[in-house]
Amino acid sequence: MFGRRNAPVNAPAAPAKSAAKRGSVAAKKPAPAAAAPAQKSAPPPAAPPRVIKPSNDSAAEAQPVEIGGRSDEYFQTKTTIFNALIDTIDLSQLSQLDTETAGEEIRDIVNEIISIKNVQMSIAEQESLLQDICNDVLGYGPLEPLLARDDIADIMVNGANRVFIEVGGKIQLTNVRFRDNAQLMNICQRIVSQVGRRVDEASPICDARLPDGSRVNVIAPPLSIDGAALTIRKFKKDKLRMADLINFGSITPEGAKVLEIVGACRINTLISGGTGSGKTTLLNCMTGFIENDERIITAEDAAELQLQQPHVVRLETRPPNLEGQGEVTMRDLVKNCLRMRPERIIVGEVRGPEAFDLLQAMNTGHDGSMGTLHANSPREGLQRIESMITMGGYNLPSKTIREMIVGSIDIVIQAARLRDGSRRITHITEVLGTEGDTIITQDLFVYDMDAGEDENGAILGRHRSTGIARPAFWDRARYYGREAELAAALDAAAE
Ligand SMILES: Nc1ncnc2c1ncn2[C@@H]1O[C@H](COP(=O)(O)OP(=O)(O)OP(=O)(O)O)[C@@H](O)[C@H]1O
Ligand SMILES: [Mg+2]
Repeated sequence: MFGRRNAPVNAPAAPAKSAAKRGSVAAKKPAPAAAAPAQKSAPPPAAPPRVIKPSNDSAAEAQPVEIGGRSDEYFQTKTTIFNALIDTIDLSQLSQLDTETAGEEIRDIVNEIISIKNVQMSIAEQESLLQDICNDVLGYGPLEPLLARDDIADIMVNGANRVFIEVGGKIQLTNVRFRDNAQLMNICQRIVSQVGRRVDEASPICDARLPDGSRVNVIAPPLSIDGAALTIRKFKKDKLRMADLINFGSITPEGAKVLEIVGACRINTLISGGTGSGKTTLLNCMTGFIENDERIITAEDAAELQLQQPHVVRLETRPPNLEGQGEVTMRDLVKNCLRMRPERIIVGEVRGPEAFDLLQAMNTGHDGSMGTLHANSPREGLQRIESMITMGGYNLPSKTIREMIVGSIDIVIQAARLRDGSRRITHITEVLGTEGDTIITQDLFVYDMDAGEDENGAILGRHRSTGIARPAFWDRARYYGREAELAAALDAAAE
């Protein structure tokens, strides 16, 4: 009984299974001993008192989605038992045990508490309670059932009582909640400490990664006013492939064929789009068309790409430590890439002065390099590259920068998350040249949304080719022997 402070005495060995009540989710009789639990650790003074039921809040228009069928009574019972558990065991000793042993220890004690307090619950309820309590003590607490689901794209926690998820492009409020802001902060701390970082009042902003690769951002009080805000972009184990994008209607088979040729013929590509529009997913799909014998170097803020090729070097930036030292920026990585004899450089997200180095790489023999950036249209994407270079302190006339952009970037692909939640590739656009001071582009494919919406609010759009039969990269496609396929795809799209 390692880790136990004072074991409950005279506890019957078996839990009160006989009192099982099938069909009811909640435990019927929370123990009276700890009738006013939960608010043990008061929220920091900056945080206003919390509303317990999210559905009472006027901002919550929709009913929260049920995760695991937990009711209010269940949460009360859980808090009672959890508090009794905390009084019984020494958490610091428990943390020295391996997860399995610690889990068993917790299970033993919780079973005893349940029978001593004579809490009536079914075996299934008891099992989920045990699981939840183990998750609270050893794992990511209430987040665990959300993390276990592969259909969730994002988890957004706005303080202890409001947890949103994005499923199928739609954001939904859930019934998941934390005991209090202190538990939420604890879990945030647990997550970021795994990558050697801290989050507290002194350093309230932190990026981290879960062991499964999910990208995490925490912003803690006092910066975030109503308790810590935790955002998780779930790592999809089975990344979407181009075939999935076709199935979802994000792109047509002909459009996908053109993208395949773009990827295979080493055409410099920029993927532009808003937050969560599917840029990284698309970049990952595009890298699937790279030949196996090419040396590829990827540079990302948090490694998300999953390249299948054998010859890949993956690099990741590093934030500064608490003393503000040791930062390695994207620019440092891209510059270093050039000394690593890459054939292609893939930059997860271009957002600063590294744009200059990427462009240089693109027109100095690293054809087929790719990157993503935040912008709402291909044209805006090119403008953003220009402003990133200007803001990077390069003292170049804007005409020179534009010529450099035109000389480096061949194709811009625009990804968008539409208002109905669907994700589409809305433009495949070529960069042709400059006319005076203006960059000239030409759309090959666009997504038309003129047809409005159906009765369910789904956008009735359609991909169409703009009728360009000979794109500017035609010669390049011919060089790689892909011109017949390109012509066929463009012809089919034009019909
Ligand atoms: N075409 C698509 N259809 C449906 N879901 C998609 C599509 N593309 C991406 N997704 C899903 O949308 C979520 C966000 O995708 P992704 O990470 O690629 O976006 P992003 O634009 O890179 O986001 P960020 O700006 O945060 O980096 C992921 O869960 C992904 O699986
Ligand atoms: Mg991304």
